Amino acid sequence: MCGIVGIVSAKNVSEKLLNGLANLEYRGYDSVGMCFVNGNKLNIKKGIGKLDEVHKRVNFLKLNGNIGMGHCRWSTHGGVTEKNAHPHVDCKNKISVVHNGIIENYSELKEMLIGKGHNFYSQTDTEVIAHLIEDCLKGNKIENAVRNALKKVEGSYALGILFADSPDKLIAARNESPLVIGIGNGENFIASDVPSILSHTKKMIYLDDREIAVLTKDSFKILNLDGNEKKKKIHTIKWSAEAAQKSGYKHFMLKEIYEQPRAIADTLNGRISNSHVIFEKELGLSDDFLKGIKRIVILACGTSWHAGLIGEFMLEELAKIPTEVEYASEFRYRHALLGKEALAVAISQSGETADTIAALKEAKKYGVKTLAICNVMGSSITRISDGVAYTRAGPEIGVASTKAFTTQLAVLYLLTIMLAKLRETLNESQIKDMIAGIRKIPLQLQSVLDEDNEILKCAELYYNKQNSLYLGRGINFPIALEGALKLKEVSYIHAEGYPAAEMKHGPIALIDKNMPVLFIAPHDVFTYKKVLGNIEEVKARGGIIIAVATHGDKEVPKKANHTIFIPKTLYTLSSILAVVPLQLLAYYIADKLGRDIDKPRNLAKSVVVE
Ligand code: G6P
Repeated sequence: MCGIVGIVSAKNVSEKLLNGLANLEYRGYDSVGMCFVNGNKLNIKKGIGKLDEVHKRVNFLKLNGNIGMGHCRWSTHGGVTEKNAHPHVDCKNKISVVHNGIIENYSELKEMLIGKGHNFYSQTDTEVIAHLIEDCLKGNKIENAVRNALKKVEGSYALGILFADSPDKLIAARNESPLVIGIGNGENFIASDVPSILSHTKKMIYLDDREIAVLTKDSFKILNLDGNEKKKKIHTIKWSAEAAQKSGYKHFMLKEIYEQPRAIADTLNGRISNSHVIFEKELGLSDDFLKGIKRIVILACGTSWHAGLIGEFMLEELAKIPTEVEYASEFRYRHALLGKEALAVAISQSGETADTIAALKEAKKYGVKTLAICNVMGSSITRISDGVAYTRAGPEIGVASTKAFTTQLAVLYLLTIMLAKLRETLNESQIKDMIAGIRKIPLQLQSVLDEDNEILKCAELYYNKQNSLYLGRGINFPIALEGALKLKEVSYIHAEGYPAAEMKHGPIALIDKNMPVLFIAPHDVFTYKKVLGNIEEVKARGGIIIAVATHGDKEVPKKANHTIFIPKTLYTLSSILAVVPLQLLAYYIADKLGRDIDKPRNLAKSVVVE
């Protein structure tokens, strides 16, 4: 996730651009850059680090002019370097591009353009767009060159484009990445979100996929990629500035829960074909090593540890690799007996959790190879690991982790498929089914988010309970742990996650008519029938049963007081869907209780002390 903002105006726009970028910084803070067009020349300043650090070094306000654009980067392709900071330019330094998204076919395009003599400066996927437009320009109108270039591009993009030789035009384009057009008075805007330009205009046009916008200071035109002009609705925004920061959501946690379909789609982008996972190059570990792994040790804390438990399940079940999941904080205090054919996998949203860093360093002492599954490019954990698989959740601001968790599960799933293929523990048709399964997840997640009535009703009825129990089995036992953790973190209600059958060895004593018991009970061939039995046991003792079940299930609703349905998916993917109602339930209960949801008491987003 990156942020882009652009303005074409009758007046100098540098301060407005700088403020716009400051509002977008939540979308990425690896590097930042700005570009102006002055007298048929592009003027660019950029650097790595957060906006205020880079601004102190380069003074963005030294740039000025009536047309310009800015970008803050959350790296996906190419490391955190000044060369990879946006804007990117063509060979002649005449076309400048800022981009949010991922160009899936960038390697092929780059190869083709190099063949035609183009010189590349960065490792980004974005730079191909500048060169591709240059290639399509050759005497054409600029908007036609942009359209023709984008017809060749696969993947997601929100783009801002400036041409040195057209100093009155700002071009924008969108496919599967957010972009709004702001209609002002004597000036027009493009931005990744509404809040970043809301203090200048309340009139917005939402670009749709594969549309481009051509803006001058007092006109705008929206075209599809075939060049046909489109009539678009102008929306008048009524949000307050504070609500706008969160795109209209009351809290970042809720916004991030709702971002999950997009975050999973981004995490899969360019990494799967119909029959295999394209991951090897990224991981930086050789096929020979991956084939020969004898054991995996996963190191993590908090929600990332829960993702690790689900990873253990997938890796053992499908790739047949013995796997253990360690609390990073405990790992150092026992003798792990790791051999050279082991792989240590650190899972961390922030990449800065002190205990996970310490555990990773400890694992390295055994001489094992290490892999990070991480959300923050260039973070400490990614720097000390041999290989990295990034989750592409975008910045997570709410302290309680949501979209980072589900994207960690997606990456673990891809890792499992890749290892299973290399080690021939799954056949081609099984792999195809698994890939088809995860492809459906973004849409299925969206449907879970769209059906939150029963969740709201449960929050309304039970927000004042003192305790609750979360029960699941198999791959969904860790979802019981995660659901309980979410509730504790944001509502301060005591909640315990337990393996459903283990309940009989203790927690069952707590069950009475005041105890909500959350069952994760998707319809699968492994645990479903047993979970039904556990539901009966709670029912017999008068507990309040809230169950997460699969659409079409007839048995669970007969026994439960409330049933929240999720779509049918593969057993190994059920966790990604099942956790979402539990995230929402925790959120709504905390909201009813008036808790400080994005910054719960005593908790920190990134725990940098051991
Ligand atoms: C803190 C956060 C949790 C997170 C845990 C691990 O406790 O509040 O949400 O799961 O740290 O963080 P990491 O960044 O390593 O995933």
